[in-house]
Parts: sequence; C-alpha cells; structure tokens
Amino acid sequence: MEIISSCEKMQELAKTWQKEGFVVGLVPTMGYLHEGHLSLAQAARKKCDIVVMSIFVNPTQFGPNEDFAVYPRDLAHDTKLAQSVGVDYIFHPQAEDMYPEHYSTYVQVEGLTETLCGKARPGHFRGVTTVVSKLFHLVLPQMAFFGQKDGQQVAVVERMVKDLNFPVTIVRVPIQRQSDGLALSSRNIYLSEEEKKQATVLSRSLRMALKAAQNGEKNAAALKELIYQEISRQDLAKIEYVEIVDAVTMQPVTELKEQVMIALAVRFGKTRLIDNIMIPQNCED
Ligand code: PAF
Repeated sequence: MEIISSCEKMQELAKTWQKEGFVVGLVPTMGYLHEGHLSLAQAARKKCDIVVMSIFVNPTQFGPNEDFAVYPRDLAHDTKLAQSVGVDYIFHPQAEDMYPEHYSTYVQVEGLTETLCGKARPGHFRGVTTVVSKLFHLVLPQMAFFGQKDGQQVAVVERMVKDLNFPVTIVRVPIQRQSDGLALSSRNIYLSEEEKKQATVLSRSLRMALKAAQNGEKNAAALKELIYQEISRQDLAKIEYVEIVDAVTMQPVTELKEQVMIALAVRFGKTRLIDNIMIPQNCED
C-alpha cells in the first residue's frame, strides 16, 4: 500500500488508471478509522480494481466553534487498518495543497443542506461538497463509498453528482453499530463511560419509532414525540433535532410516505452524535 500526499501526483496516477480501464473506488474519510470506515473499504474492495482511501480532515466543513483543531488524528494506526482491509492507496493531502493561497471556489447544494444538520452547522455541507468534488477530480473514481450513518451527507452528495453530471456511482453502506446499538463514530472517543451508556438511547428510540411505523403509525409528529420521550429519559442527553424527512429532498414530512429518513442529533456534554433510520428499510442495517 502506498501513501500519496501530493494532489498533482494523485491526479497523474488516476489518469493512468483511467487509460488502462481500471475500476477505481474512492473511500473518502477524515481518518481515525473505525469499523464503519473499514466496512466502506471492504465494500469498495469487492467492487473495484483499485481502492483509494482519502484521509483528510477537511477544514472547510468545520464551523469556527467546532472541533477541527482537536479532531482525532492517527495516520500510523489508520495506515495499518486500511492495509488490513486491502486498501491500495491512501491519499493524504495537506490542507495547503487542497486549499492554496487565493482559493475561492466552493460547491453549494441548495435546499437539502438547509434542514437537519445544515441548520445547526451552516456552511458544513458546502465544505463537504467542495472537498468531495475536489477528491473526485483528483482520484477520478467510478465509484465512491459513503456511510448511511451520515444520511444527509450521502443524500447531498447524490444530489450533487446528479446535478453536476459527475461520472461517479455513489454506493451507500449500512451503519455499523456496537453490540449495544451505538452507531460507530470517530467522535465516540469524546464520550465518558456514562455518556456512552446513555447514548445507546439513540438507536433504541429509532428502533421504537420503526416498530411503531411498522405497526401502522404514519403520523410524523406522533413518531417524533415517541423518540423525544424516550431520549428525554436520559439526563445527559440534549436533543438538537429529531426530524422525519423525505429521503431524497431532506424536507420534513407530516405523514410517512414512500421513503423517509428519521434522523436525530443529540448532544452528550460537548459531543454531538447523529443517527438515523430509513423507512422502509432498504439500505439500513
Ligand atoms: O464523512 C466524512 O468523513 C467527511 O464528511 C468526508 C465525506 C470525508 C468529507 O470530508
């Protein structure tokens, strides 16, 4: 496995793969890998000739008061893990190479980015779509693998790919969870033992809502209330949002319809956790 840190070298290599007709899969990450990221790489390994994992803590998707400076980083450990699941190349660019002096171009998806996490994190998705566009141009993948854990992010990227005609197939990979239901996230390391225990309420409350929906409850307000009540029983949980949205447009619905996503963001101390479930369940664990 090779680590590439220059954008120019990455793109030169990608062009040679393109000429030779290889199917290239990109797994975009910010590093500090866990089983969730590895499941993306494993999915890519099955479908692609060459698997590139990008590891880049992207400054443009963090707000001024967010955790960019302290976001966990461990390239040596990440390298071992990536190698263990058959990643061929790690692309690990430097911020100055991705965003050189006078950098001025951003990609903005409208509408879908204004609900859920977009409300609390203005500019976040603009940073994500900008860096993902850059990665697509640098790695020239035919396929890119995203986790369903960031359900709004993958919907936004799918929209961007359609709208801007990127020749890239987006593959959604199911959420990876601990045995107690907590969705895997690099930010889980910030949680205390007690917070970790209480955070299992997120997946539990989503499953309760799923069950109620399967039993015929179609009213979004009633389902949201169920989740609110369950989460509010945990004294350390501060709910940022619980929302039920159309799976494509990310706009809130009042009644369950074709395909919706129930999504939530909850703070435990300084740690903000997100989780979601799709109804009906066609790309969820
Ligand atoms: O999901 C992430 O880790 C990031 O948002 C991504 C897609 C790698 C872009 O920086």
